[in-house]
Order: sequence, then C-alpha cells, then structure tokens
Amino acid sequence: MDKFVIEGGRKLQGSVRVSGSKNAVLPVLAATLLTDEPVVIPNAPDVSDVRQMLRVLEGLGSKWERSKEGVLTVRSAPVPHNEAGWDCVRKMRGSVAVLGPVLARTQHARVSLPGGCVIGVRPVDLHVKGMKALGAKVDLDGGDIVASATGGLRGDEMYLGGAQGPTVLGTANVMMAATLAKGRTVIHGAACEPEVVDLGECLNKMGARITGLGSPRIEIEGVDKLHGCTHAVIPDRIEAGTLVIAGAMTGSKIRVEGCRPDHLMILLERMREAELPHHFGADWIETMAFDQRKKRAKPTDVTTLPHPAFPTDLQAQWMALMTTADGMSLVTETIFTDRYMHVAELMRMGANIRRQGASAIVMGPANLKGTQVMASDLRASAALVLAGLVAEGTTEVHRVYHIDRGYARIEQRLAELGASIARVDDDPDAIATDTAPAKETITPTKPAVLPKPAATQTVPGKPAAPVAKSAPARAAAKKPKAKAARR
Ligand code: EPU
Repeated sequence: MDKFVIEGGRKLQGSVRVSGSKNAVLPVLAATLLTDEPVVIPNAPDVSDVRQMLRVLEGLGSKWERSKEGVLTVRSAPVPHNEAGWDCVRKMRGSVAVLGPVLARTQHARVSLPGGCVIGVRPVDLHVKGMKALGAKVDLDGGDIVASATGGLRGDEMYLGGAQGPTVLGTANVMMAATLAKGRTVIHGAACEPEVVDLGECLNKMGARITGLGSPRIEIEGVDKLHGCTHAVIPDRIEAGTLVIAGAMTGSKIRVEGCRPDHLMILLERMREAELPHHFGADWIETMAFDQRKKRAKPTDVTTLPHPAFPTDLQAQWMALMTTADGMSLVTETIFTDRYMHVAELMRMGANIRRQGASAIVMGPANLKGTQVMASDLRASAALVLAGLVAEGTTEVHRVYHIDRGYARIEQRLAELGASIARVDDDPDAIATDTAPAKETITPTKPAVLPKPAATQTVPGKPAAPVAKSAPARAAAKKPKAKAARR
C-alpha cells in the first residue's frame, strides 16, 4: 500500500494537461458489449477503475489491448458471456453499467447487486425500473440482478428520475439497452451530465439513433445492430476542477489545458464569487498568482445538485479550499448526503468544520498543519492532497489507492507543477494507529476581515498567454524511499 508525503507551502507554476474522463469512459467501455466490432478509445485514462472495468469485460469474453501511445481497443465476443459476479462488481460500482448492454445483446444478464460504499447506500432500483420498462423480467436472486427479455427488449416511455433526482449510470444503462430494443424509447427525467451526452455521442457513432442528449428527455429509436467506432471521451471535468482548485488554493498561476470550461461553469462562477482570480478560453483555465498573506478567498457557499449545478464530485475539494477562506461558508450535499468522510480528516489538519445534517459549516481561515490523514474515497482523498499542499509542514495521506481509482499519476503531475509530493511505501502499522478520527468540535473563528475585491478575469476565448515551464519534481528526489512514478 502506498502513501503520499507532501511538504506544504509551495507555490505551483506551469501547465498540466487533463486526462480523458473516468466517468465518461466507464459506460463507453460497457457500450463496447453492444457490438462484436472493435471500439477504439484514443484517450482512456490509465486509472485503476478503468483497469477494473477491463477485467469485468474480460470476464464477459471481451478482448482488449492498449498501445504504447495509450490507445485502447476493445472487442466484445461474438456472443458475450452474461454473468458479472460479485468479485468484480464489488470492486467498482460502475461495472453495473454492463447490465443494459449484456441484456440487450444476449437477452439474459446476471449482474451482482453492488453493495453500499463509503459515500452512501447507492441503490440501483432506477436501473431495474428502466429495464422492466423495456419489457425485461427482473428478479433478485442471491444478491444478483437477474434480467431476461426472451424475444428481445421493446421500447417504451418511462420516467427515470428518483427521489434524489436523475441517475447518471441508470440513464446510461437504460439508454444502452434501448439502442437495440424494438421501437422507440423515451426517457423522461434523464441525467444531463456531460458524461451521459458523451456516451450518447459514442453510441450514435456506433449506429444508434439517439436525440435529446443533454436534456432531461432522451429519445432512442431502436436499431437491429451496432458497429464499431473510434471515440475520444471528453476531458475529465472533475480532474480539471481539482487541479484548478489546487492553483486557486495555493495562490498560484497554473494553466489547466485540454479541458472543457463549459463543463465547469458553476465552479468558475463560485471561484469568481470567492474572488479567486482566473481566466479561461475554449479549452483551458488559468488561475492567477496572488499573495496569500494579503488576500484570502471570500467564503462562498455551494450546494451539490445534478448538472449543470455544483457537482458532488467536487464537493470535498471545494470544502478543502473553503477551510482557508476568510470566514464561514456552508457546503450542502444533496446527491450523496453522507459524502463527508473528508471532514474528520480535514479537522485532523486543523480545519474548523461542523456537520449539520446534509450540510457542513466551514469556519475559515484555518491554519492547516501537516499530519497523518487517511484517504477514504476518491474525491475525499483529492481534498486531503489539496489541504496538504497548503498545510504547514508534512502531510502523509495514507491509502492512496483510492485516489489512483480516478486520477492518473496525480503526484507526478503536481510535482511537475512544483509541489513537493512523493509516493512512498506505507507502513501498515502506521495506518492502524496514527489516524484516529478527530473530534468534531468548534473552536472560535477569527473575526472575518474581508479582502478587497480583486479583479477577477473571465475572458472566454482569450488567446493563450505564455506560461512558464513546469517546475521539476523536487519532492521525489528529496525522499529516500520515494518511488518512481509507476505508470
Ligand atoms: N439513485 C437511486 N436509485 C438508483 C440510482 C441512483 O436512488 O437506482 C440515487 C443515488 O443514491 C444518488 C442519486 O440517485 O442519490 C444520483 O446517483 P447516480 O445514479 O447519478 O450516481 P452514479 O451514476 O452511481 C455517477 C458517478 C459518480 C457521481 C454520480 C453523481 C460514475 C462511475 N460514477 O454515479 O462519481 O458522483 O454519478 O454525479 O459515473 C466519483 O467519480 O467519485 C463518483 C462517485
């Protein structure tokens, strides 16, 4: 098991390129099961969730290869196997996305019911509801979803939203199944997330007939057969957002390249409200340097909601940023109301946060201090890394396999921007003893002294300004046990 060792307090500088989206590529990989022709993905990120999904596909009979340049080619079996067992599904909830394609292709699917995870209960009732609406018979048997549609699926009109709003993977699952159903399917209450749009565009390249992508009403006209295609997935908006927050939080000038600012408008708007200077163009976002001794972020509330509102996958990172803001802010999580594993760990570092139901009150500015902290889920881990970048002294983030699920070589890329961060072998005993959760208590905050508004620039389409080259990875060289980046 690895940990990150971070020396806080360094300014970042330079540019970093965003990877292909993890949450876009996982359903696209599931969609490869809809045809026996090859599907080529030039920019699948090399993260452990993708490797796990490829194992799931192998279990269903698919073959895949990744070229030296990172181009992934996946080819499903002429008749895919139709069982994805507990052993693969438990490791990654996203693998439930194979249900729709396998059912559509073979008229029978047995997929293990994913359990809960640290961010909450995460039911799949809406996936099941959608398959039933397409005419499938669905039963639960020994912890498995068993779905069959002898004679094939048939299109229908359905409402797919749930109590918490639309479902991203549920919409993806039903949309994939409906591509090979007889007749027309209309999904009302569909998820509008860019990852769903991206999947729909990939399916259309494969010969599907889908309209209404990006709206809550998606229409799918079933076809007899899909074919292979080449599809580059959208840039990872959550990775881009995390890097932008890293620049803002450290008061640094960094440029996040190859991203889609139009997928992150809510983050940029909240940063404008927080008076964190930045500007952006068609495919880049740049944070501006400022002196943190003179200026702090203005406390700014966020509420997570379905796209285009603030994404739950950036909630933890925003909270880390707000611990350093000048006053009190409120973070409210409405998608996964228990997604607060990072709170106690940020408090170990000196943050002053109080949970109240689905909200957290963050009282800044905290003088964060480096210590031992435990990664618990993917985005919580990212928040701890961000906190480590600004904390005084050394932060050790244990169990970084969580962050490896969705961020490719994050330590290497931050080190290239000048952060002092290294991956080292962890001592399992240290994990067991060093990271007792902090007590959630409130200490009085400093009276808020609001900074003078800084000129915040949001200049769509402005040509790129020249940027300094990335700083060398100093950290790896300093740490005797530091590992060379693995991938
Ligand atoms: N929900 C139901 N019933 C269902 C499905 C979902 O009640 O059948 C509820 C969920 O409990 C939640 C809400 O609906 O309250 C939305 O969940 P959704 O189904 O949209 O989540 P998901 O599709 O399982 C994807 C991402 C998550 C991201 C959410 C929300 C992937 C692989 N996962 O999950 O990403 O947080 O959408 O945007 O695409 C992450 O990357 O860290 C991550 C957790």
